[in-house]
Amino acid sequence: MSGVTIIGTGRHVPGAPVPNDALARVMDTSDEWIQTRTGIKQRYFARDGQGVSDLGVEAAKMALDDAGIEASDIDYIIFATMTPDYFFPGSGPLLGAKLGIPGVPALDIRQQCAAMPYAFQLANGLVQSHAAETILLVGADVHAGFMPWTDWDIVRSEAEREVARDAYERATKHRGLAIIFGDGAAAMVLRDSQTPDGGFIGAELHSDGNSFDHLFVPGCGFRSIPYVTPEALLADEHIPHMLGPSLLKKAVRTLSKTVRSLCETHGVSQDDIDCFIAHQANERINQAVRQALHIPPEKIPSNIARYGNTSAATIGILTDELRRDGNIREGDLLCFLALGAGLNWGAALLRL
Ligand code: COA
Repeated sequence: MSGVTIIGTGRHVPGAPVPNDALARVMDTSDEWIQTRTGIKQRYFARDGQGVSDLGVEAAKMALDDAGIEASDIDYIIFATMTPDYFFPGSGPLLGAKLGIPGVPALDIRQQCAAMPYAFQLANGLVQSHAAETILLVGADVHAGFMPWTDWDIVRSEAEREVARDAYERATKHRGLAIIFGDGAAAMVLRDSQTPDGGFIGAELHSDGNSFDHLFVPGCGFRSIPYVTPEALLADEHIPHMLGPSLLKKAVRTLSKTVRSLCETHGVSQDDIDCFIAHQANERINQAVRQALHIPPEKIPSNIARYGNTSAATIGILTDELRRDGNIREGDLLCFLALGAGLNWGAALLRL
């Protein structure tokens, strides 16, 4: 039996890179700390007024061009994001309109950093049930609005001045979170591979709301009336809370276990996997997973140094880089693995 495969990819990041040193101007951190503890050297941030559908449309055009098809060939859109342009509607319909294909069904999914293994399973189900033939899958996130500073001109190296003491202290309170995220978008065009044993093979997916407090936005939700209050903003409840060290340990444990179990279910030997395309939240997570699963270093590529954690965009950006650089090719067996807020996590096997 065949499954969906990737016939085109694209990526887009906004503006100029923001190096670690720029963050050290607005809070107590350093390039050395960030690089050693996370592997990150720089990230990108969207401008005010720039949403995930704006970044997504650029990535989507690149993916359509790569696939050699027109936007009108797309008959389903899956848009993965935790930071939509508007509280509602989702960004899928906005993307469809921007691509000039209004009317095409569009589904937003909210698995945060774990979106891609979920999206592959969903896309495969849609194609196998004949609900869709050619799917545009976009993963995009804009975290700039979560960031705990207002001195964007300093962060963007457009101004040089000392930040106010209270602003510096406020940002420092959130430094664990603020240094790891960056903005970006990625797109993939998915279609049935039409090859026996080609394309999507299977996914193992999990979610556990017991651990939702490991990474969540405490305020600005509909448990509160009204859902945004000046008090919530003053208390910085619009900024995600993250239990970093605990999340890091959970990620290593659950991802290693899930990959092992997925391979066992599908009778795939880990040695036969050509490339492990892992979410990039912290280089230490991927190095620990690599050691736990005895994966040779060259089989688990990293690009976190250049982008930070771009949430739903991460796996797509890395996949696009690997394809364009010829580091993954037709016939390769790929294993995608990711964990994100929810908690959600999972892994998927796909033969290109
Ligand atoms: N710069 C400088 N120092 C920092 C810092 C920063 N950006 N962030 C934390 N620190 C300090 C802490 O205050 C603490 O200081 P103390 O020992 O004096 O109390 C020390 O560094 C260690 O803090 P800790 O939080 O234990 O660091 P860590 O090594 O766990 O790194 C994260 C923090 C957030 C980078 C790391 O936990 C992480 O990446 N976790 C997983 C994140 C993740 O997967 N998120 C999900 C995305 S989908």
